[in-house]
Amino acid sequence: MNIAILYGGKSGEHEVSIRSAKSVSEHLHSERYTQTVIGITKSGKWFLQEDGIVRKEIDTGSPVSLMPGTGILSNNKLLDLDFVFPVLHGSNGEDGTVQGLLELLNLPYAGSDVLGSAVCMDKTVVKDLWIQAGLDTVPYLAFHKYSDLEASIQKTKQIFEYPVFIKPIAAGSSVGVHKVKNDDEFRSAVKDSLQFDTRYMIEPEVKGQEVECSVIGNLELESFPPGEIAASHEFYDYDAKYIDPDGARLIIPANISNEKQKEVQELAKKAYRYARAGGFSRVDFFIEENSGRVILNEINTIPGFTSISMFSKMCESGGLPYNEVLDKIIQLGIDRHRDIDELKLSYDI
Ligand SMILES: Nc1ncnc2c1ncn2[C@@H]1O[C@H](COP(=O)(O)OP(=O)(O)O)[C@@H](O)[C@H]1O
Ligand SMILES: [Mg+2]
Repeated sequence: MNIAILYGGKSGEHEVSIRSAKSVSEHLHSERYTQTVIGITKSGKWFLQEDGIVRKEIDTGSPVSLMPGTGILSNNKLLDLDFVFPVLHGSNGEDGTVQGLLELLNLPYAGSDVLGSAVCMDKTVVKDLWIQAGLDTVPYLAFHKYSDLEASIQKTKQIFEYPVFIKPIAAGSSVGVHKVKNDDEFRSAVKDSLQFDTRYMIEPEVKGQEVECSVIGNLELESFPPGEIAASHEFYDYDAKYIDPDGARLIIPANISNEKQKEVQELAKKAYRYARAGGFSRVDFFIEENSGRVILNEINTIPGFTSISMFSKMCESGGLPYNEVLDKIIQLGIDRHRDIDELKLSYDI
């Protein structure tokens, strides 16, 4: 099979995607797959990397064009692709946009479909679905760039106590996420969050352990033993995730009882299902310090995806090594494409 790796993207997580894509490219089984590497610049332009290397300098490649119903072309030649692996994080990649494009190109692809991607990218929409399903998640307030900032502060203080978390509604990798302790910090955090999305949300702080769980599947799901993030910073911020080598420890399996582990794994599957995710995702929780409540934080449909990322490490600890995770994700994408293809498009009486 020839697999296209899509990487980079018009997203605040462009750099993170490059790392993930390098790892995917290195670990795809060379006997099973050939690769076609396509980079997307920060301005959204697509370039075929002729030598098949995932690199930062994307625009040195050849431009590609897209033909709906047919596929992807470069130099007027149709690329012979069997499958597309969007290794893109955040906006224009993890949010349903690229997924919609791939549907129209009639190419099977990895991960969640249009609906699941879009739902999971919006932290408030996914929470509303979870709340409706009776799942426990951190409560929130949502505002936008035209909301009266002082009124947002007052409203927040009526409902929650400082410290609160302020985050862009649709972003990731902790960009624009702030823990604030007073009105002044509130104002500057909002200003920063609004650089990454036109809307922001407020949550009360949950004190406790941060626990994550890998889930794989389309309609039938499996979840893996949860892992734990022990951040040495105030919280698991961008710096702790990607810059500071001592920013966080990944503890796998998480330091929780067997019972809690089971509870997390079951809840992760439910949360994934209600969020309409597909293929694979990482579901993130807090386990509250005093109550022991397992509270949903968020779901990532294309989580950090290097061989040493939490998602892959948790699969590995459950007996599924990274290259087999890739095999499985590819198979699930193909299965979904086939299932949809088999549906009737006309109804004859
Ligand atoms: N309500 C909260 N209580 C405590 N910590 C939080 C809360 N919300 C976010 N955090 C911290 O901020 C980090 C990033 O927030 P998150 O909602 O996961 O956004 P992202 O999509 O950017 O990862 C979390 O991993 C956690 O450390
Ligand atoms: Mg997160």
